[in-house]
Amino acid sequence: MAVFQIFSQAEQRRYYAHVCSKASIFMIFVIALTFIPPFFIAYRSYGFWLRVDNYEEQPQVQFKHQLLVTMETSDSYITWSTFQNYNQLQQANLRIPVLQSREADNNGDGVRDELQLKLEMPLLDTEHIQAVQLILIFDYMLSKFSTMQMESMGYLRHESIFPGGQLKVIGDLLLVQRQPLAHRGLDTRFNTSIFDRNSLFLDAFDLSKVFTEYSSRNVTTLFQYNYPIWSKGRAAGSPFTLQATVRYPLTTVQYTPGLWQLFKWAWIQYFAILVVFIFVFNRIKAFVYQNQLVTTIVIPAFKEHKL
Ligand SMILES: *[C@@H]1O[C@H](CO)[C@@H](O)[C@H](O)[C@H]1NC(C)=O
Ligand SMILES: *[C@@H]1O[C@H](CO)[C@@H](O)[C@H](O)[C@H]1NC(C)=O
Repeated sequence: MAVFQIFSQAEQRRYYAHVCSKASIFMIFVIALTFIPPFFIAYRSYGFWLRVDNYEEQPQVQFKHQLLVTMETSDSYITWSTFQNYNQLQQANLRIPVLQSREADNNGDGVRDELQLKLEMPLLDTEHIQAVQLILIFDYMLSKFSTMQMESMGYLRHESIFPGGQLKVIGDLLLVQRQPLAHRGLDTRFNTSIFDRNSLFLDAFDLSKVFTEYSSRNVTTLFQYNYPIWSKGRAAGSPFTLQATVRYPLTTVQYTPGLWQLFKWAWIQYFAILVVFIFVFNRIKAFVYQNQLVTTIVIPAFKEHKL
C-alpha cells in the first residue's frame, strides 16, 4: 500500500526558564539585538527621514495684463508700461505700442498652457533698436498640496549690435524654489505686488531695486527662453515687433512631507532591515535553546495541555 504525505505540521516545543536565569537574560539580549540595531542602520543610511519630496503639477498661471517694456536705441530709449504712474514719470521717453495678448488652453483641461503676446512699437525711421527688455507680470498658483499663490514675473532681455526689426522668443515660465513648500495649508507669502504701482517716485520702478527684491524671494518664476530670434533691419515706416510665447509647463514642486508620510517612509526602511534581523536571530535562538547552551526546561508539544 503506497503511503504519501497528506499533511504536515510543525511541532511546537516550548522552553521554560526562571526569570533570573541565564536563559532569560540571553532572551532579553537577543530581543534588544533584533530590534534596536536595525533602527540605527536605517537611521544612518541616507534618506531615513524624508525631508524633501517632489510632486508634479501644472500651475494655474494667468497673465495679469501688466507689463513694462523698454527698447533701447544707441543713444536713448523708449518705454511703456501698464502702470500709469510709471508712464507719467517717463513722459519724455514714452511711446505707446499696439498690444495683443491671448492665453490658450491647448489641451482643453481648463488650465491655461501658454501666453501669446505681440507688441508693435511704432518707431521713427531714424530710430534703431538694439536692445529690448520686457517684464510680464503673472498670477501663479499651485494647489495640489499646499495652495500657493503669488505674483510672479517673467523677464526677457535681448540685445544685438545689429539694429533689429523683430524679436521672437519662445520659452517656459519655470518655478524656482529656494525652499520646499509645505504639504498643506495656504501660502500667500509672495502674493505681493512686484511693482508698487501707486508710487509717484521713479524709485518704485527702478529695475535694480525691483529685481533685488524679487530675487530675494524663496519662490519665484523664471522665463527661460533659449532660442530668441532677432531679425535685423526694418522696413521704412514699420514698427518694431516683439513676439513672445510664454509656456506654462508641468512643473516639479519640492515640498516638505507631512508627519504621516515621514513615519510611513521611515517605517518601511526600518522594517526591511528588521525582517533580516528577525530571521537571523530566530536561527540563533533555535540553535542556542535546542542545544541547551543555556539551561531551560523543554516541554514537547504533546505534553502541553498537561502543564
Ligand atoms: C526663505 O527660506 C529660508 C530658508 O530656506 C527661511 O529661513 C526663510 O524664512 C524663508 N523666507 C520666507 C519669507 O519664508
Ligand atoms: C493674491 O493676490 C491677489 C491680488 O492681489 C488676490 O486677488 C488674491 O485673492 C490673493 N490670493 C490669496 C490666496 O490671498
